[in-house]
Amino acid sequence: MPDKVVLAYSGGLDTSVAIRWLREKYNLDVIAVTVDVGNERDFSTTRQKALDVGAVKALVVDAKESFVNHFIFPALKADALYEGQYSLATALSRPLIAKLLVDAARAEGATAVAHGCTGKGNDQVRIEVSVNALAPDLTIIAPAREWGMTREETINYAGRYGIPVPVTVSSPYSTDENLWGRSIECGALEDPWVEPLEEAFAWTKSPAEAPNSPGYVEISFEQGIPVTIDGQKMDGVTLIQQLNELAGGHGVGRVDHVENRLVGIKSREIYEAPAATVLLQAHQALEAMTLSKEQLRFKQKVAVEYADLVYNGLWFTSLHQDLAAYVQSSQRFVTGTVRLKLYKGSSSVVGRKSPFSLYNYGLATYDKGDEFDQSASAGFIHIWGLPVKTQAQAQGTGGLEEKEG
Ligand code: ARG
Repeated sequence: MPDKVVLAYSGGLDTSVAIRWLREKYNLDVIAVTVDVGNERDFSTTRQKALDVGAVKALVVDAKESFVNHFIFPALKADALYEGQYSLATALSRPLIAKLLVDAARAEGATAVAHGCTGKGNDQVRIEVSVNALAPDLTIIAPAREWGMTREETINYAGRYGIPVPVTVSSPYSTDENLWGRSIECGALEDPWVEPLEEAFAWTKSPAEAPNSPGYVEISFEQGIPVTIDGQKMDGVTLIQQLNELAGGHGVGRVDHVENRLVGIKSREIYEAPAATVLLQAHQALEAMTLSKEQLRFKQKVAVEYADLVYNGLWFTSLHQDLAAYVQSSQRFVTGTVRLKLYKGSSSVVGRKSPFSLYNYGLATYDKGDEFDQSASAGFIHIWGLPVKTQAQAQGTGGLEEKEG
């Protein structure tokens, strides 16, 4: 009996061809596993297609809840934004997909796992590093990296074996999507000077066509996790879906980023991430109110490390466990409500409140009711400026006092 391989199956051209190719080249029985991370698709057709193309078994795993609770929300609590722009939708899904591939391989007694990633991207790294961490005994096969076929040759291969070529193949773009966002690459976008056409976008209205009056939304958090929209409690999956609709309808969440890939390439990426944009913004606004200045400064550094780690495929590492523990601890008082205004492509925080707020009206106000002892500032400035004065007297100020440097 042939050995079994579990293939991460998207239903697209490459993974469909891979089913046939794994049989031809390695004589393997292919078990297709399609992971639902909120990339709304008709999964029954995907499943059937895998079988039609030659898979011995096709499984669809609904991983939305797990994706939200164990991947998206921890990243939100960490304020993870790669290079200050990318909310990491694809990157966060890969360790989960790797884990589910390993689970399926164990359940089915497979000796190998396979994925459809090319040799130029980050996803191959994320999946393989994760599979190796979880199940070092499994062989990993990357057909699209190995077969050396051009796009055209892949289509011809599909034709030869009666593999249906999806209409989306004619689309000039390569896309990936899940609850946390959608990425768009290739085609005309490979020229970083070219503005993306409207046709590239699927989740966001063009800001020019968005409603002429602003929308408002109130999001409540409990210990860093969003739990209600406009006072209505809901599960994480629904909450993210609703915010994608709502903010996307106002054109919020478009990102145009020249990004540093792990494999050393700069690539031009377009993202749509309405819910992620709004939630990260709201979460940071609440942290600004409930964390001390020093906590915020330190957490910003952690956020950069955390985002890099997720991007670079290092989910299943001790460093991640350590950073996640810090992040978790930092969220003890990140509870409260943020109000945002959505208007023609932009979202802005216009209100925030928390039972644990460190904002003290009595200290902040310039009106009556001021409790701040202004006379104490003189002594503070004296001490604060003491080393400055001492050094300037001893060593001068190096010409900084001159008007032009
Ligand atoms: N550049 C993004 C990342 O590395 C998006 C990748 C999209 N992946 C894909 N297979 N289309 O996470």
